[in-house]
Amino acid sequence: MVKHITLETIQQLYLTITPKSLGVADLGCSSGHNSLSIIKEMVDAIEEACHKGSRPVPEFRVHLNDLPTNDFNAIFTALPEFYREVRRERNDGGPPIYVAAYPGSFYGRLFPGECLHFIYSSYSLHWLSRSNRATVGLTVDRINPSIPQLVKEKPAVKDKVRQRVVPPALYDDQGRMGSDQVDRGNSFFWELLSRSLATLVSKGEVEEEKLDSYNVHFYAPSADELEDEVRREGSFEMDRLEMFEVDRDVGSITGYGTAVATTVRAIQEPMISHHFGEGIVDNLFEQYGKLVDEEMAKEEIRPVTFVVVLRKRM
Ligand SMILES: C[S@@+](CC[C@H](N)C(=O)[O-])C[C@H]1O[C@@H](n2cnc3c(N)ncnc32)[C@H](O)[C@@H]1O
Repeated sequence: MVKHITLETIQQLYLTITPKSLGVADLGCSSGHNSLSIIKEMVDAIEEACHKGSRPVPEFRVHLNDLPTNDFNAIFTALPEFYREVRRERNDGGPPIYVAAYPGSFYGRLFPGECLHFIYSSYSLHWLSRSNRATVGLTVDRINPSIPQLVKEKPAVKDKVRQRVVPPALYDDQGRMGSDQVDRGNSFFWELLSRSLATLVSKGEVEEEKLDSYNVHFYAPSADELEDEVRREGSFEMDRLEMFEVDRDVGSITGYGTAVATTVRAIQEPMISHHFGEGIVDNLFEQYGKLVDEEMAKEEIRPVTFVVVLRKRM
């Protein structure tokens, strides 16, 4: 669903402006399989649009962004195979694709002027640059950050506004359906992680002070908040906003709890290992998977994803 919207959006953008050289950025690209696979799908989508419209395929300039600690080398190491695959699928042809890394926080300026046509960011915005509470802790409290941070703090977007360039931006991330910031959706998964850590504290496997000093700034906005913030900030029009419940069918033979634990572990492990030490990670996520299953048996947990497409006002 999200991918479909992403590809449709970049195709529409391309057909509107038809640049010879298309600049794309991925904010929070990470270093796994997704980092390059979404780029390949964008290239495929643009090529399809070009063939349908009998237009030449543009060259692609790909700006990969993540925090400086991200393993950009892993992406670069995967690049030769990526290029081989692109060429293989096109009988040794294919458009030039130039990939570069822009390490840094997307809450600061990242790119040179006028180099981007499309900004993409998937599942990265829920990490806030700051919280308005001194200590948030792992449990998601009733905090009031951060769609402002989404739109206002994103100079990668804002700078473009000043320069009167028009980069549409597509963000997808965790959201929520209702007005309550603490619900039985995404925030509940954080609540369960907090409870799992508390269990390890009660068993003496984690020091209480360590838990007290572990802060994660997380926020899942509602559709109203997204709309309000985009309206208040004023530079963008919201072309599209969709909220949908994440499919419960995780296709896992190990069960829902384990599948959720594996996903959350993939996201949280580096931070947890860094703060608590690697030794607790297996126990923690085993405990976590069990808790998820226990809670699901009591009542459904309904995580929500949003997709928003923004376009600069003319
Ligand atoms: C859950 S991963 C998402 C990865 C990828 N976009 C995907 O959809 O699979 C979130 C990524 O956002 C990055 N991130 C978080 N805060 C960031 C910031 N302020 N600036 C740049 N990257 C950030 C993290 O380092 C992480 O790699």
